[in-house]
Amino acid sequence: MNIILLGPPGAGKGTQARRLVEEHGMIQLSTGDMLRAARTSGTDMGKRVAAVMDAGNLVTDEIVIGLIEEQLSIDNSKGFIFDGFPRTLGQADALENLLNKINKQLNFVIEMKVDDDALVSRIVGRSTCDSCGEVYHNVTKPEPNECHMCGSKIFKSRADDNELSLKTRLMAYYRDTSPLIGYYYAKGNLYSINGLQDINIVAEKIGSILNR
Ligand code: AP5
Repeated sequence: MNIILLGPPGAGKGTQARRLVEEHGMIQLSTGDMLRAARTSGTDMGKRVAAVMDAGNLVTDEIVIGLIEEQLSIDNSKGFIFDGFPRTLGQADALENLLNKINKQLNFVIEMKVDDDALVSRIVGRSTCDSCGEVYHNVTKPEPNECHMCGSKIFKSRADDNELSLKTRLMAYYRDTSPLIGYYYAKGNLYSINGLQDINIVAEKIGSILNR
C-alpha cells in the first residue's frame, strides 16, 4: 500500500507518518527530511538548497524527484508513505511514472485539512529530537527531558519555523500544491480528513481509510 499525506506546513503529515511507520512498518519518504539531511552532511546539493528552504520556497522538481527515485528501490512489502511529496503537478506526474516503472501503484491520497491560524501556532511551537526526529510541540506534546522514542536529550527547532517563512511556505502550498487536491480527486484516490482533531483521532481516521 502506497499513500501520500497531503497538507500545508504544520498539518501533521510528519507526525502521522511516523505513527504509520511504527504501527504498520511502512517506509516514510519525506523530501523535507532528505533535504535537511543533505544540508547537515554538507553536500553540494544541500548547500544549494539551504537558502531556498530557509526562505520557505520550493526546491526544484528535478532535485526532489531525484531524491525520491533513489529511495524507491528500497525493498519494501508494507508500502511507502510520501510525506511532503509531491508538491507540484510536475512532481505528481513524475511519481506516477516512477511507480509504474516498478509495477507499484498509489492507493490513497490523504488530504489533511487545517486552517491557517492553527498552522501558525503549530509551526512556531514545534521542536524535534535531534537524534531520531520525533516531533514535539510546546503546548500539545511538550518536549520531555529525554526523547520518549530514543532517549536523546537534544532537541532543535527548524530554521524555517518562523512566521515570515511560514507565510511564504503557505503561499507556495496554495499556489503550487493545492492543485493536487483536484488532480487526485479526478483520479479517484483522494480522501480528506479534519487535521484539527486530536493527534490520536487523526491517526484513527487515517487507519480507517487504509482499511478500506
Ligand atoms: P517539509 O519538511 O516537508 O515541511 P512542510 O511540508 O512545510 O511540513 P512540516 O514538516 O512543516 O509539517 P507537517 O505537516 O509534517 O507537521 P508536523 O507533523 O511536524 O519541507 C520543508 C521545506 O523543504 C519546504 O518548505 C521546501 O523548501 C523543501 N521541500 C520539501 N519537500 C519538497 C518538495 N517535494 N518540493 C519542493 N521543495 C520541497 O506537525 C507540526 C506541529 O504540530 C508539531 O509540533 C506537532 O506536534 C503538532 N501537531 C501535529 N498534529 C497535531 C494535531 N492533530 N493537533 C495538535 N498538534 C498537532
